[in-house]
Amino acid sequence: MAGVESQATFHELLAQYDLALARLGQSHDELLARVSELQSEVARKNDLLAHKERLAALGEVAAGVAHEIRNPLGGIRLYLDLLDRGGLNADGVATVEKIRRVVSRLDRVVRDVLLHSRELQVQARSVSLCSVIMDAVNCATQELGDGGITLEVEVDEGQALLDPDLTARLVLNLLANAVQAMPDGGTLRVLGRLTTESCIITVEDEGPGIAPERLGSLFSPFFTTKAGGTGLGLSLCRKIAHAQGGSIEAQNRPQGGARFVCRLPRVRT
Ligand SMILES: Nc1ncnc2c1ncn2[C@@H]1O[C@H](COP(=O)(O)OP(=O)(O)OP(=O)(O)O)[C@@H](O)[C@H]1O
Ligand SMILES: [Mg+2]
Repeated sequence: MAGVESQATFHELLAQYDLALARLGQSHDELLARVSELQSEVARKNDLLAHKERLAALGEVAAGVAHEIRNPLGGIRLYLDLLDRGGLNADGVATVEKIRRVVSRLDRVVRDVLLHSRELQVQARSVSLCSVIMDAVNCATQELGDGGITLEVEVDEGQALLDPDLTARLVLNLLANAVQAMPDGGTLRVLGRLTTESCIITVEDEGPGIAPERLGSLFSPFFTTKAGGTGLGLSLCRKIAHAQGGSIEAQNRPQGGARFVCRLPRVRT
């Protein structure tokens, strides 16, 4: 009898041993899978770090080049003013105007590169939303040219706690894109709405709109579909919106054309 009992116990023990072995095998497999997951995560983070380091190095070079370009640009502006005073004929005046527009565009791009290559310093103060938007509109009109663009601006009266220079730069980049999207003219609409909590700035155009597969990439640095574009404009807009605790999104208007909506907190909490 004792022999049968001890055999049963032995079988039980063996079964438990098999079970434990199976569990150990499973844990081992799970551990291996986790290790391989962690290894790929480390590899991905290393890639990201290398990418960030490359971007930082590129940023330093870009900042240096941008500084070098800004001074001669100022010089060109000065010479244009001198030329303008020199009694030019109509063709001359038109040419000077064209060069001014190109210089304005170059200046905007160079400033974008400079802003991109360093941490944004937000200096928020109470400003009228209207004055911020009009600042951008006035700068944009230097780039508008005579491309048959009708500008409609509608802004609520009221103050908001914003960095006026950075916010105007954000709006200017949206306006520049809208102008470039309508080479044959159209209506460019700028709306500034104030609610108790937010400033909502909307820029709409009647251009071709944005291909749905591109909607997710527009705000990535260096994404551009333009021959001479840097692809920094919208990326900087997003950086400025986020630095002020806000957001920005791109949409296609149902009636055609693109719409960019930027929401910024009206008062910082
Ligand atoms: N209003 C718009 N309508 C259609 N596409 C747009 C509009 N605004 C931006 N895009 C698309 O988003 C891309 C990225 O814009 P972003 O302003 O970042 O760079 P860019 O305009 O190409 O270059 P840069 O700003 O240096 O002149 C553009 O190349 C274009 O394809
Ligand atoms: Mg742009």
